[in-house]
Amino acid sequence: MATGTGFHSVRLVEAGFEVCSVDGSAEMLARAFENGRQRGHVLRTIQADWRWLNRDVHASYDAVICLGNSFTHLFSENDRRKALAEFYATLKHDGCLILDQRNYDAILDGGYSSRHKYYYCGRQVSAEPEHVDEGLARFRYTFPDKSTYHLNMFPLRKAYTRRLMREVGFQKISTYADFEEDGACQDPDFFVHVAEKCYRQETGPDDDAGVVHGRRREDA
Ligand SMILES: C[S@@+](CC[C@H](N)C(=O)[O-])C[C@H]1O[C@@H](n2cnc3c(N)ncnc32)[C@H](O)[C@@H]1O
Repeated sequence: MATGTGFHSVRLVEAGFEVCSVDGSAEMLARAFENGRQRGHVLRTIQADWRWLNRDVHASYDAVICLGNSFTHLFSENDRRKALAEFYATLKHDGCLILDQRNYDAILDGGYSSRHKYYYCGRQVSAEPEHVDEGLARFRYTFPDKSTYHLNMFPLRKAYTRRLMREVGFQKISTYADFEEDGACQDPDFFVHVAEKCYRQETGPDDDAGVVHGRRREDA
């Protein structure tokens, strides 16, 4: 999902995965296809909006990967729920969703200090929030030639994203902070959620491997 320019698709293909690149924008898919072609790959692309993904995507997948802080582009809760439910539906019974997001909690609660500002933007581009409240994060991107670009995003709180994932049916959600186990990294810039679909039946209160354990550990 959120193929964009195809960076992750190309890396995944080169790592040996069978990849289907989905994006709502035909223009972005064309760019991704061309970027893939220049590296000797023919990307399989599908133009589909996440909110009605299963209208256009009919296969089932081991993983749905939505990176680049892309889920932040949905501004209504209904849209977020619907998109996550569609991701869930397109996964095999034991598939997983990998979705990342900026650490908006830090931005909303404590101001903004980016130690890892090169993540996604490269060394030449700086990203700074211009306005942030619970309903909007407006970022300014500044390029080497001093030109600027503004992007409006929905500031997803970590616990909120995890709750929505759980509510659409994901059984276990592990959240990594700048690629470390959550807790190992103070004040990360990004979170990566790995949401597992696999359902394990509860066998009792002391069941150590099941849903209960997963849930207890994960709250917020
Ligand atoms: C930030 S870009 C992703 C970039 C890429 N994943 C990366 O990390 O380099 C977000 C992408 O999500 C796509 N997108 C946003 N909302 C969408 C939606 N509702 N359905 C499908 N694609 C959507 C946009 O067209 C855009 O290509």
